[in-house]
Amino acid sequence: MNVFSKVSDIRAQRWADPLVTWGLVPTMGYLHEGHLALVRRAREENDRVGVSIFVNPIQFNNPNDLTAYPRNMERDLALLKEAGADLVWTPTPDIVYPPGYQTYVEVEEVTRPLEGAARPGHFRGVATVVAKLFNVFQPQRAYFGQKDAQQVVVIKQMVADLNFNLEIVVQPTVREADGLAMSSRNARLSAAARESATCLYRALLAAKTAFEQGQRSAESLRAVTRGVIEATPLTRLDYVSVAHPDTLTELEVVENRALLSLAVFVDEVRLIDNMVIEV
Ligand code: PAF
Repeated sequence: MNVFSKVSDIRAQRWADPLVTWGLVPTMGYLHEGHLALVRRAREENDRVGVSIFVNPIQFNNPNDLTAYPRNMERDLALLKEAGADLVWTPTPDIVYPPGYQTYVEVEEVTRPLEGAARPGHFRGVATVVAKLFNVFQPQRAYFGQKDAQQVVVIKQMVADLNFNLEIVVQPTVREADGLAMSSRNARLSAAARESATCLYRALLAAKTAFEQGQRSAESLRAVTRGVIEATPLTRLDYVSVAHPDTLTELEVVENRALLSLAVFVDEVRLIDNMVIEV
């Protein structure tokens, strides 16, 4: 496994054999089983696997969140080697955004609700860095987790709009045994908050059960979800949504499919989760 920070080194490795196929797994490091599932899948579907580890400063609207973001490069590299990565890009912020940098990617409608409303500028930062990663690696496939459902919608929109020549592969959310979606942020939960954090998955399951029992009113499904969070100590609901899975517009009635999603502060750590429900 080769590790480089310079763009020219990544490009040289990427094009050493132009006939091999590349899968790219973009990450911000502090890897967990969810990331490793993406790497293993990329390993199965491509000749070579590239990974980026970069805590992208421009996607954090809250500077405290950026400072608190956990990092452990040594451990990440050991895990990636074991999972079968071939090439890892570990740029510094001034390599990605050198002095004088002035180009940003703005995806419009699908970035407005949900995470976009809660975290102004977040998706501008995500779309910009992901576009740069696609240009640096020029992979045939790029791998993202369903855990960040809106991110997937935004990146697919960007790929279609800007004619990026690659396939976006989406991997199901990897969960802890008690249902908590894996996230680098979980490391910041105290023992008590960790216990409360299962409420996101429990809330989604409660709404899914109501849906399976015939409830089609989106507002009733939101109320079921909200009820579980409100009954859990140490939590503050940020939003709950029952939206169209592709356009992310809020629904009144769920006809065929919907994306249930929510964001919750658990003792000041903001967690998100989602589930697609369908008839
Ligand atoms: O999902 C993430 O970890 C980040 O948003 C990504 C896609 C690596 C861009 O910084």
